[in-house]
This record gives sequence, C-alpha cells and structure tokens, in this order.
Amino acid sequence: MAPRLDEIDLANHDFFMDAVPHWAFRTLREHDPVHWQAEPAPNRGFWAVTRFRDIEEVLRDTRTFSSARGISLEEQSPEKVEARRSMIDMDPPRHTRLRRLASKLFTRSAVAGYEGFVREQARVVLDRALSKGEFDFVEEVSRELPIRVLARIMGVPDDDLPMCIELGDAMIAHADPEYSRAVIDAEDTSGYRLLPFRSPAAVELTAYGHRLAAERRQEPRDDLITRLVQAEVEGEHLSEREFDNFFCLLIVAGNETTRHAITHGILALSEHRDQWDRLREDPDRMPLAVEEILRWGTVTMHFRRTATRDLELRGRHIREGDKVVVWFVSGNFDEEVFPEPDRFDVGRDPNPHMTFGSGGPHVCLGAHLARLEIRVMFEELLRRLRDLEVTGPIARLRSNFINGIKHTPVRVELTGRGT
Ligand code: HEM
Repeated sequence: MAPRLDEIDLANHDFFMDAVPHWAFRTLREHDPVHWQAEPAPNRGFWAVTRFRDIEEVLRDTRTFSSARGISLEEQSPEKVEARRSMIDMDPPRHTRLRRLASKLFTRSAVAGYEGFVREQARVVLDRALSKGEFDFVEEVSRELPIRVLARIMGVPDDDLPMCIELGDAMIAHADPEYSRAVIDAEDTSGYRLLPFRSPAAVELTAYGHRLAAERRQEPRDDLITRLVQAEVEGEHLSEREFDNFFCLLIVAGNETTRHAITHGILALSEHRDQWDRLREDPDRMPLAVEEILRWGTVTMHFRRTATRDLELRGRHIREGDKVVVWFVSGNFDEEVFPEPDRFDVGRDPNPHMTFGSGGPHVCLGAHLARLEIRVMFEELLRRLRDLEVTGPIARLRSNFINGIKHTPVRVELTGRGT
C-alpha cells in the first residue's frame, strides 16, 4: 500500500486522541525516517526522527543537537528559554553540574533503600482502593503512589500532596481542558510565557516551593529541598528562578510519568491474559515485565533538540536552528531492534527500550525510582488480584507529548491475600 505520509500530523494533539498512532510511526520508519512535519504558525515545523539508532545518535551528540534552545515543540525566544531553564534544557557542562546536585538521591543504591517505604505506601493505596470493588484505577491507584514517594524524597508534607498533584497535572497536561487552566493551543497563554510549561499553575507551585525552601533554610533536614537550597553550582547558590524551575521539573517529571506507566501496565495485562498468567506463575519475571510495561506504554513520547549547524541525516538536509524531534514512542517499536514489536511479552529479553531516553546525558534521573515503584505496585497487585476487568471506556489525555490516561474504570475480584 502507498505510504499515507500526508495524513500524518504529529504536531496535532488530536492526532493522538484515540490511541498512539503506531501506524503513522511504522510508515515513517519505513518510508521517511527523518520526516519534515509542518506546524501551525507561529511555529516553523520540525524534523521527526523515528528510528531507534537515529534517535540514539541525536541524543548522544549534544554539540550538534542542543537542548539549550528548548526541549518542547514550542518555539521560544532566548528570553523565555532563559527564564524557564532547568537542567533538562541545558547542555553540558552546566547541565552536568546541576544534575550532580540531585543525582545522589536517585542512584540505584539510594533508590534500593526506598523499597520498604514504597511498599508500605503501595499497600496503603491498595488497601483503600481495592476494598471499593469498583473504582477508577487512575484516580485511586496510579495517581497516588508516585506523588507520595516523591514527596517523601523531596520533603513535602503529606497534607500538601493533593495540591501538588493538581498543580503538576495542570502544568504538564497543558493541552487538555480537564486539567489545564489555560489550554495551550486554544487560548491566549502569552501572559504565562516565562513560566515553566507556559502554565499559570506554575505560579502557585513555585510560591509553594518558596515556602518550603524558606522553612528548610531555617531548619535543614535530610531531604531534596534542603540539598537544593544549600547547593552551590560554580561557587554560587541556585538563584530563586533556578530553584523554582528545578522544583517544578521534579514535581512534574516524577509524578505524572510514573502514574501513566502504572496504568499502561494494568491495561496491558488485562488485555493480554496469557501474559498475566505467565507472571503469576513466575513472579521472578517481574523485573523483565516492568521493562516491557515501560516500552509498551512509552509515556514521554518525544523530546526536542535544536540543530547547532547544518548537517545531513538519512539524506535530509537539516539546517542550523531547525527543531529535531526524537520520538521515543517510535524507537520503542522499531522492528530493527525489537523482534515482533507489537507483541506485549513480559519475558522480552533483551529489551533495550528508550522510554527513559538512551545514551545521552539527560537520560531520566528518576529511572531507578520509577522502575522500583512500578515493580512494587505490580508485585502487590498480582498477589491481591484474582481478576480485574476494565468496565468502561478509558479516557486519554489530549497530548502529543505525554501518552497519558486520565480515567480507567475497573472492577476487581480479590484473592483474599492482603497485607
Ligand atoms: C515512567 C516514568 C518516567 C518516564 C517515562 C520518564 C521519562 C524521561 C525522559 C524520556 C527523559 C529525557 C531523556 C533524554 O532526554 O535523554 C527524562 C528526564 C528526566 N526525568 Fe524522567 N521519567 C520518568 C520518571 C521520572 C521520575 C520518577 C523522576 C523523579 C524525580 C524523573 C525525573 C527526571 C528528570 C529530573 C529528568 C531530566 C534529567 C536531565 O535533564 O538530566 N523522571 N525522563
């Protein structure tokens, strides 16, 4: 069949509304792996890079493909980029220094130390949710665990969790009217252009971050906020704006992503009963299953870089200043790397997915933590669930950036094995 390239519109949030358009990515990988995607003004369009190996090359080569001019599709003035900058939109060496501030709390060994606490929280969440019998899995389960865990690491008091969830959602889901207070492609958001995610919710979240920071300056504790207020980069403390942007990045990056991965996991297992049974028969397979859930759900679908010079990639002429967008959600289904990519296989091994990035310096800081949360959640779920049925339509997030699920109505039958 002739490729349907002109039907592909990766710039349009609605193109992702019903499902990830895997047919489009398959077509692009095969027929136009470095594809020019037009965009509505004021944006200029971007190159969509869809093959695994090319994506890795882009992520590794930070000199040619810079993060410092923005990592979202939105084209920003230098003033805006500077105002909103956090470590994710910096290049080495400044990026390296800033990342070092937080990285100790997220190493494999540091994260292993959180397992007891994560399990305790997963049990609290499941005890409450599963006893209801019928409920929204996203609201009651997936949404609860990541923010509780993050709050503990950061030092956010439990009482403030609901507010952090709401504000974090409003920022990252800025194209979805259910969450956002200013839908980015439908309303005039120019007044918010200097804020993280161009979102008014950032005002409240940063005000809250300021309060916490002030408290920790007075009374230091063993948490991430204290580390950040005491931290020095290049001999200077973080400026107020740097602190704000760091705080918002962590709340957003560590919260919604993991939530959606958990939801993708339960949906995949309920749709592939044979895989659920395999996992039940052999729970030691869980770490592999977690990797497959991460690949299958690919929550962060893309990030952007900007070309710093003219170059050629797969025969396409990319010019200095062009946006180059890497589609992890396509790389994770690349037939050259994953045999039978459309098969959900909890035993897939090797599984070198790029859900957390791959090879570059920005590879997800919270990857070990996200893996731990997902593993513990599914260990606890599988022990308790005899059956889970999705009872109604799921509601997807309106976004070409986050592969998110807002609601998943379920009915559960329990094994009777609780805490
Ligand atoms: C399933 C859950 C998650 C997914 C899918 C995810 C995905 C990603 C991706 C794709 C990147 C960019 C990689 C690159 O450009 O090479 C990233 C960066 C980042 N993630 Fe995650 N993430 C998740 C969970 C978390 C958690 C739990 C945290 C906790 C703090 C976190 C914090 C960050 C930070 C701070 C960065 C920026 C790192 C840098 O610029 O050096 N993420 N994540």
